[in-house]
Parts: sequence; structure tokens; C-alpha cells
Amino acid sequence: MRTFTPFVAGVALLFSLLACHPGHEESRRQMHSTGPVRIGFSMDSLQLERWQHDRDAFVARAKELGAEVFVQSADGVDAVQVRQCENLLTQGIDVLVIVPHNGEVMASAVRSAKAQGVPVVSYDRLIRNSDVSLYISFDNKRIGKLQAQYIYDRAKTGNYMLEGGAPTDNNAHLIRDGQMEVLEAAVKRGDIKIVGDQWAKDWLPSEALRHTEDALARVNNDVTAVVASNDSTAGGVVQALQEQNLAGRVLVSGQDADLPAVQRVAAGTQSMTIYKPIAPLARKAAEAAVALAHGEMVVSDGTVDNGFKKVPAVLLDPVVVDRNNVVSTVIKDGFLKMDDVYKNIPRDRWPKVTQ
Ligand code: BGC
Repeated sequence: MRTFTPFVAGVALLFSLLACHPGHEESRRQMHSTGPVRIGFSMDSLQLERWQHDRDAFVARAKELGAEVFVQSADGVDAVQVRQCENLLTQGIDVLVIVPHNGEVMASAVRSAKAQGVPVVSYDRLIRNSDVSLYISFDNKRIGKLQAQYIYDRAKTGNYMLEGGAPTDNNAHLIRDGQMEVLEAAVKRGDIKIVGDQWAKDWLPSEALRHTEDALARVNNDVTAVVASNDSTAGGVVQALQEQNLAGRVLVSGQDADLPAVQRVAAGTQSMTIYKPIAPLARKAAEAAVALAHGEMVVSDGTVDNGFKKVPAVLLDPVVVDRNNVVSTVIKDGFLKMDDVYKNIPRDRWPKVTQ
């Protein structure tokens, strides 16, 4: 579904800003506004820890650039998110940045924005079938591949359960595509049997809990691995495994490096997570938003087809985290603190940190 030239190291170089190109439509700001750039940041929800990191880093960078940010969170309700975007547009924002709850539904907000000369950045999740100005995210197909490869390297045969994310989120589908690219051949050979294949509405742990309980009951607890698409669903999976005294004996993947998930990785009940350095993503998005508001074009390093057009895209690289590299990744980066991650583990079993 997307055409993306492989992401090359040195994002900074690729992410240079060019002057306005000929024929580029004039933005509302160019026509009317003076004073600081006004950015509307419409977020699906702030409930998961990861999105609070996104918001904070985005706002901080925008402020450094002299812009004002108006953040709205829709608590996962489509109608609320659409209305919040309309309100932001009424308030005269120069650029709209959206983390869509539903990648299809938010196309209507993009249409409204475009009609008013306001460019739109699709943040982390792709808004489909609409004239999005820029998509900025991590390489989600690669995330799926990394999750499945980690598990497959440790269990080449057995009963696997797949716990996908929200079906309304384009990322969930890209992640599943990536996972299946790794697992398909082994499934065809019969080495791996898929004993549960589910999608968790809104990425809810409660959904993953129920799906895992059902799968475990169906196969008398004979599950080797659960390929969970993010950490919130992994949390539900591990809870179901705990109920059957299976936690730590079944491989479980995740994504986000949320504190509870990394605590599970340290404790051995979740095998891995994916660390997505959020600060670079949020900072780049803020820089791009300000550039777009000024009518400048942001040079991307590839495109992603959203059904309407090939959207210029910037995709960052995710990092695998397991109990062997927690310290050299999320802790070294200051994303999480040693004391928090290992707080449930006796101090003599903490990893040695060499300065
Ligand atoms: C994001 C994940 C997140 C999930 C649930 C996805 O679109 O890429 O990082 O865990 O949404 O919020």
C-alpha cells in the first residue's frame, strides 16, 4: 500500500527545509496572519503514557521556535475529534497537526483545513483518502517485522496468538502486515499454528485480556507465543497469562517502551518491546508544522500512498528492547529512569551500569 524508499541514516540531513516551491498554494497564514505561528494539535487521546511524551516534546519544540500550540484531546471519540478540529480552525490556526483516532473519519477535518488554506500534518498515524501535507511517523511495517522476528527467532514452531491493534488505526494494519511477512512461510509449512487472530478495539488491554483468555481456554493453555502489537495490548495478554501461571513462559511482544511494559520486560513477563524515540518525532513534527505554516515545503525522504495521493513522509527507525539492552536504550536516552524500571526487582538483580 505504500511506496517508501528505505530510510537512510542521517534524518537530519534529509529533513532540510526548502523555500516555497513554485505553484505551491498560498497558506492562510501567508495571506492573513502576523504574530507567532499558531499550531492546532488534535490528539486522539492522552491516556497512554506515550502520547503524553509526544505532546510535551512537541509543545516544547514549538515554543522554542516561537510558535503557540493549542492541544486538544478527543478521548478516542471520532465526533469529538472532528469538532475539536473545526473549533481549532475557527480560532484561526495556521497549521493543523492530527493524531487521528480513526484514519478514515479524520479525512473530513483535512478537507475543512485545506478549504481554509491550512496545511495538515498526519502525526504518527496516517489519515487516509485526503490531501494530507505531510505524514511523520515510525516505520510501522518494520515495527511489525521486528516484533515477529524477535519471537520467531526464539520459537520456530508452536501455537501462536496474534493480538492486533485498533482496526481503525492504519498503523495496526501496517504492523500486522510486517508481522505476517515474517511468519507466513512458517505458518504455511505448518510449523506455526495461529490459534487466535484478533484486533483490540482502541488498543484496549481489556480486549487483549479477553482474547487471550479465550485462546488459552480453546487450546488448554498450549500457547507458545503472543505477538501483541503494542504495550497496552501486551499488558492485557500478560494479565491473562498470569491468571494461568504462564507469565514468563510464553513469549510476548509489545511496542512503545511504556514504563509498565519495560517493568514487565525487566521482570521477564514480557519478552520485548519496541522503543520509538518520541522526542525526535515530536520535534521534527513541530519544525515541519512551523515550516508549512510559512508556506515552505518540507523535504521528505519518501512517500506513503493514503488512497488519495502519495503523501510526503518522514519515517523514523524503531529500536528493539529486551531485558539485555534496557539500560543502553531507554534508560541511557533518559526516556525512563532506572529506579522506576527496576523498582519491583531486588537491587542485587539490577543490571550493572558502567559509567
Ligand atoms: C501508535 C502506538 C500506540 C497505539 C495506541 C499507534 O498508532 O503507533 O505507538 O501504542 O497507537 O495508542
